[in-house]
Amino acid sequence: MPDDVAYFNCAYMGPMLKAVRDAAGSALERTSRPWQIAAADFFAPAERARELFARLIHARADDIAIIPSASYGISTAAKNLKVRKGEAILLLDEEFPSNVYPWHALAGRDGGEIVVVRRPPDGDWTSAILAAIDDRIAIAALSRCHWTDGGLVDLERVSAALQRVGARLVLDATQSLGAMPLDVTRIKVDYLSCAAYKWLLGPYSIGFLYAAQEHHGDEPLDYNWITREHSENFNGLVDYRDRYQPGARRFDMGERASFMLLPMATAALQQLLAWTPEATAATLSEITGRIARGAAELGLAVTPPHLRAAHLLGVRFTGGAPPGFLEQLQARKIFVSLRGGTVRIAPHLFTRPEDVDRLLDALRTAVTG
Ligand SMILES: Cc1ncc(COP(=O)(O)O)c(C=O)c1O
Repeated sequence: MPDDVAYFNCAYMGPMLKAVRDAAGSALERTSRPWQIAAADFFAPAERARELFARLIHARADDIAIIPSASYGISTAAKNLKVRKGEAILLLDEEFPSNVYPWHALAGRDGGEIVVVRRPPDGDWTSAILAAIDDRIAIAALSRCHWTDGGLVDLERVSAALQRVGARLVLDATQSLGAMPLDVTRIKVDYLSCAAYKWLLGPYSIGFLYAAQEHHGDEPLDYNWITREHSENFNGLVDYRDRYQPGARRFDMGERASFMLLPMATAALQQLLAWTPEATAATLSEITGRIARGAAELGLAVTPPHLRAAHLLGVRFTGGAPPGFLEQLQARKIFVSLRGGTVRIAPHLFTRPEDVDRLLDALRTAVTG
């Protein structure tokens, strides 16, 4: 990270670790020499990536598929889950579209309804979601925290309430995994989808899908060759098979052996696991805490600490951000996002105290005009 850049935009795109860039360099060397790519290279690196992602969420490698985007994982879930007439799918207000359109399609296909949990004025998403869960809800498609401002969802309480009414839970973890702990043994989640290019600090166009064991017989989105039984035997690929490779591998995207992207994603996962999500979250909460206190002193609205994620902070101006706000920050090489009228601030472990000083100074200028 160059000294003059204050990057608070990991929720837009995570910067690439040196280890990830090194992995990309080696991968490029290898893929430019196809005679060095063996049949085993279509399988072993994918298994390694599965195993590392599984460790991040306390799942098993068998539960993990390799996918190109969060929308792909959510669409896989929507292809398999059902909502009957009179039933509903629960979504969060102003949710990211990848976790909305697949559900609109499913509701259209099955005749269900969409119920949207409106943004709670007090920032307490968990209570708002719990209040919306009733017998009608067949599926809840949620996040660990809201992508616009880090507003937290207590998944353990929500999962318990969903189980009481027999509803399914699908998660988009793109804005939380890597920077927040998540344990799928503590919640009952059916599918969890995550793009790698934000908090997993991986490359664009790859991600991971967790599918609970009961879904290992579900239909994939993509009917490709490598997910079929005995695909290791390249000489036998035209002995077409109906059966799949075990576990969630059936949901892998075509060309999942991505010789460029998988080594990069793997290098990033190794580093994230070495840091541990718990320690990352603890460090980031100090940084976002300092920004939140500084912003509150300037009269800006921030969600209280117990209702927001450690790594993602939304700051609101009364009446919206002043015109040209983002451009003024960019001119000073300070990078944040505006989402749904909120200034979204997403630091990482590279964030230094002087970066925070610069951000607070820019917010002060915006407030005082
Ligand atoms: C909550 C959330 N999910 C998913 C994504 C990316 O989705 P996809 O991988 O489908 O492009 C984003 C990107 O901003 C996001 O904020």
